Amino acid sequence: MKVVESPLEAYAHIDQWRRQGLRIGLVLTMGALHEGHVSLVRRSKDENDITVASVFVNPTQFGPHEDFSRYPRMLSEDTLKLRNAHADMVFMPSAEQMYPSGFSTFVEPPSVAKGLEGACRPDHYRGVVTVVLKLLSILPSRIAYFGQKDYQQYLVIRNMAEDLNLHVRVQCCETVRESDGLAMSSRNRYLKPAQRHQALGLWRALVTAKEMLAHGDIDVSRLESAMRNQLYKDGVDRIDYARVVDRESLEPMINVDRPSVALIAAYVGSTRLIDNIFLQADVAAVKTS
Ligand code: PAJ
Repeated sequence: MKVVESPLEAYAHIDQWRRQGLRIGLVLTMGALHEGHVSLVRRSKDENDITVASVFVNPTQFGPHEDFSRYPRMLSEDTLKLRNAHADMVFMPSAEQMYPSGFSTFVEPPSVAKGLEGACRPDHYRGVVTVVLKLLSILPSRIAYFGQKDYQQYLVIRNMAEDLNLHVRVQCCETVRESDGLAMSSRNRYLKPAQRHQALGLWRALVTAKEMLAHGDIDVSRLESAMRNQLYKDGVDRIDYARVVDRESLEPMINVDRPSVALIAAYVGSTRLIDNIFLQADVAAVKTS
């Protein structure tokens, strides 16, 4: 596996592979890799000839009071995990390489970035779309793989790629969970053992909404308050949002009468966790007709 720090060198490798007609798949990460990240590498390997990963903790997507400085950095473990997963190249630039002095161009995120994470974390998606566009320019690929775990981020990037005519397919891949349902996340490392139960509240709340819908309850305000109740019951410290919205636009809904998604952001201690689940309108439609 090639380990490359320089953007020019990374581009040169990709260019050579493309000239050979090889299909390239891309997995962008901030490192502290877990099975969720590795599942994206595996999917890319299944569908392409070459798989490229990136590890870069992007400073522009963190707010001034967020966890940029304490975000876990473990480059040698990450390299080993990518090597074991048979990635062909990992791009690990420094902050100076990505944002040399004088850097001043930012991408304006699409409208789907406005609510939910966008409302709680001002400028977060501006940093995400800017770094993702830069990474896609350095590492032009046929398909880029993203996790459903960050569902709004997937939609934001997909819409950006569409709006800006990028020649890349943006693919959403299923969330990988621990055996009890907790979504894998680099931030789970912050949790103390005693906080693990509270963290599981996110998944339990999402399952509660799904089960209510399966029993025919399509009323979004009831589903949302059931999710909040479950979160508080499991002892989360603060809820940023617990919403059921349209799966494409992320706009509010009254009833679950079309494909939707339930999304939660909540704090366990000082750790902010997110998770989501797709809700199938047809499940309720069958039950209520
Ligand atoms: P990071 O949080 O490291 O996530 C990298 C990719 O892994 C994202 O597409 C994310 O959705 C996916 N992922 C994380 N946990 C997952 C899980 N449990 N199951 C499946 N996929 C999972 O997201 C970012 O980094 C950054 O914002 C980035 C896109 C790299 C831009 O800086």
